[in-house]
Amino acid sequence: MKYDWKDAGEEWSAPWGTSAAQWFGAILPRIRAFLPAETILEIAPGFGRWTYYLKDYCQELWIVDRAEKCIEECRRRFAVDSHVRCYVNDGRSLSMIPDASIDFMFSFDSFVHTDREVVEAYLCELGTKLKPGGKGFIHHSNFGEYANSLRERLPPALTKLLIKAEILDWAHHRNPSMSADLFRHLCAQQGLHCLSQELVNWRGRRLIDCFSSFTRADPSKQKPTHIIRNRNFMREAALIRAKSQIPKG
Ligand SMILES: C[S@@+](CC[C@H](N)C(=O)[O-])C[C@H]1O[C@@H](n2cnc3c(N)ncnc32)[C@H](O)[C@@H]1O
Repeated sequence: MKYDWKDAGEEWSAPWGTSAAQWFGAILPRIRAFLPAETILEIAPGFGRWTYYLKDYCQELWIVDRAEKCIEECRRRFAVDSHVRCYVNDGRSLSMIPDASIDFMFSFDSFVHTDREVVEAYLCELGTKLKPGGKGFIHHSNFGEYANSLRERLPPALTKLLIKAEILDWAHHRNPSMSADLFRHLCAQQGLHCLSQELVNWRGRRLIDCFSSFTRADPSKQKPTHIIRNRNFMREAALIRAKSQIPKG
């Protein structure tokens, strides 16, 4: 079924209460060290759920999405913000962006669905579009870690039943061709180094998602990646939601 953008993606923030609560409680604390930044690039902004916040942390914000409808809506939504530059792309190229011009690249809730080839194409672009020492933060799939498990080989009808009975958790359409390990290796091939990777239990028990922070720097001269396996991500979301519902004043 085609997504209708009726609520502009706001409904995806329900476990955190609102997108504002998710931004201030879950996202900003994870990227605070990289902000403010002179020039930011957001890949796959959708209807601008995070663009709305990112625009206040930079002098120039490039946003690139392969869906014309999304970029049209962002042009409308951010019409008064002349430093927001909106582009439709082919789903893998960043040719509109000058080389070595980006201080911080961000993408959240989009790369979880994309496959290895697309992630690889964007990392290849970022290897030249980021300034040397520039940083990136990508929320991507770690479902590859589970793709060959016994559980994934159960008959689909049985899996469906066990998910319904809440015995198994659902994979939320995470892409099976990407994992935290693979992402780290693909970064290294493009002259990018993963500073940290936080594996999280997105809406379930398994660590099917990963937040990778990386920099454009010679990987052989960097410290090993700091890897965190966070099984409490949804508990954190529930706390953020509870706090966001406390009446103010
Ligand atoms: C689930 S929406 C999330 C949008 C936004 N990041 C948010 O959190 O609200 C996924 C977005 O990714 C975009 N997208 C998917 N694959 C893409 C690709 N290969 N290149 C650029 N945009 C892509 C879609 O057009 C859509 O806007």
